Amino acid sequence: MTLILKTNPTSPDPDILRCAAEILRRGGIVAFPTETVYGLGAVIYNEDAVRKVYVAKMRPPDNPLIVHISRESMLEEVAINMPEKAYKLINKFWPGPLTLILPRSPNIPKIVTGGLDVVAVRMPAHPVALGLIDEVGSPIAAPSANLAGRPSPTTAEHVIRDLYGRIDAIIDAGETLYGVESTILNILTDPPTLLRPGAYPVEEIERVLGESIYIPPFARGFAEAERALAPGMKYRHYAPETPLLLVEPRSGDLEAMVSTIRSLAIKHLGVGEKVCIVASAETVDRYRDLPVELLVIGSRRNMFEVAKNLFKTLRRLDDLNCTIGIVEGFEERGLGLTVMNRLRKASKTKIPV
Ligand code: TXA
Ligand code: MG
Repeated sequence: MTLILKTNPTSPDPDILRCAAEILRRGGIVAFPTETVYGLGAVIYNEDAVRKVYVAKMRPPDNPLIVHISRESMLEEVAINMPEKAYKLINKFWPGPLTLILPRSPNIPKIVTGGLDVVAVRMPAHPVALGLIDEVGSPIAAPSANLAGRPSPTTAEHVIRDLYGRIDAIIDAGETLYGVESTILNILTDPPTLLRPGAYPVEEIERVLGESIYIPPFARGFAEAERALAPGMKYRHYAPETPLLLVEPRSGDLEAMVSTIRSLAIKHLGVGEKVCIVASAETVDRYRDLPVELLVIGSRRNMFEVAKNLFKTLRRLDDLNCTIGIVEGFEERGLGLTVMNRLRKASKTKIPV
């Protein structure tokens, strides 16, 4: 049995927060909304509870969890030897979707960090998440509340789909704001390294830092270059059950992208496949004459919208029961980098045009 606790996202019901906090303090695991995606939380000091999180998600034990805090004073509990640079970013971006890699405090059980001597920390900008952590009174370890390998959940319904019966409770406060996970930055390297592009564009962070950030190939979503820098990056991610082909307009030529997608669709239709095309608002009309399912992910002029709809669209694709999905790529600027990282990880085949 999983308890479903409904609340308003902007002014959460104190009774709901107290109830969820009580479950956590007693060693339970609770899914809750953040401004990015839903997380699955456990008190960091309760090793059994943290272990339950790995089991419920079927997550490999060497893939560490992000520690969530609700106030800056909690930082001392989880990180030591804070680099000066960290405060520049914290002052500007917290609470918000920026996760920092910091030297780990010996207080944190090893299971949280997968045995690493660094810890990933963030302060979520969501009244429910902040209220819950405050009510518990200690930091909460929380990965995204999906089964390992599935698209991250942006609604409580997604969490219910993946984890109902496997976790103690879900706080349902509606759809999350960004729809993609936090940006993860390692500031312990020189220059700082982007481990995962996320809801804050890397260009914005560079502006505040006053230096450039190294973007390794795996942060752009290229599997062939993956290394264990961020342990989670080596696993297949975000994948819908429907095999996905990603057509990447690397030259920026949308006409070439559209005609490649049309030929691919026709080829697959010809052998009796049921095809779905995931298109942008600008290009969707170019496929209307084909006997395919069409999903619109958003407008190319509003990458915030595309990012927000991304995981929801990947889940919808599975509901259509197509045998193949063909998805349009986006320019890797701003949130486009985040979207392309997720699409490359989600897709079986990448076709550059
Ligand atoms: O927006 C988010 O970050 C969401 C919400 C719930 O806060 N959380 C999230 O967690 O996306 P998860 O577990 O799905 O992704 C965390 C990523 C993983 O790829 C993991 O390998 C990496 O962060 N990570 C965690 N701790 C790390 C560490 N100490 N060093 C390097 N990478 C770490
Ligand atoms: Mg995840």
